[in-house]
Amino acid sequence: MKREHVRIVSVTAYDFSFARLLDKAGVDLLLVGDSLGMVIQGHSTTLPVTLEHMIYHTTAVVRGASRAMVVCDLPFGVCHGGGVAVMDVAARVLKETGCQAVKLEGGVHMQETIRFLCEHQVPVLGHVGLTPQSIHTFGGFKVQGRGADAERVMADACAVAEAGAFAVVLEGIPAALAQRITERLTIPTIGIGAGRQCDGQVLVMHDLLGLYDAVVPRFVKRYLPENTVHQAVGRFVDEVRTGLFPGDEHSFS
Ligand code: KIV
Repeated sequence: MKREHVRIVSVTAYDFSFARLLDKAGVDLLLVGDSLGMVIQGHSTTLPVTLEHMIYHTTAVVRGASRAMVVCDLPFGVCHGGGVAVMDVAARVLKETGCQAVKLEGGVHMQETIRFLCEHQVPVLGHVGLTPQSIHTFGGFKVQGRGADAERVMADACAVAEAGAFAVVLEGIPAALAQRITERLTIPTIGIGAGRQCDGQVLVMHDLLGLYDAVVPRFVKRYLPENTVHQAVGRFVDEVRTGLFPGDEHSFS
């Protein structure tokens, strides 16, 4: 797709029904992100998410996807053991969920781990820039790669690509840097808060639909008219209270 200048579309998914809906809508890559810790579980970071949670949600998403590629995010705390240990985790993910690839956060320091996984037939999606699992090191959800820090993010992206990742997520970095990385790498870049020059874009589904308002990053665009879901639920509440629902057409005789 990168070679043919076709932009890659990715959205996060966490369950069967939405995976099916997104798959039918033409989304190319369903990412079961550890963002589920925030938008599904209600935590303020992604750190509490476990491997079991990821496997549970990815299994459901795989059942809903007939065309899109499904990628499972490796959660915080399972990637520090080096190649063999992470390979055990990735093998378990691929065997138990049926997904096609794993995503892991980190650049230069994860290069050898990514290389090991790729050499052992595990497709890896990289993720550099504002990597949410490093939130405490960054001191919050802060844009990365500004000024002199740009070369660090560039080195991370190059390390991921050199190790064999099939694509890399660029999160929360200046658009000009994302463009330079996209031009430098032969693998596709998938941006989130990284401007329009990436080879593809990913958004968290709940952000795209305006269902999550605890943190709304500047890069989010809502595609559902404001309050649509809230209005639908409000109507249900009203119709039950006033006896309008269920009508005869929703009842058995
Ligand atoms: O966890 C996630 O959903 C992600 C995307 C935002 C890239 O990592």
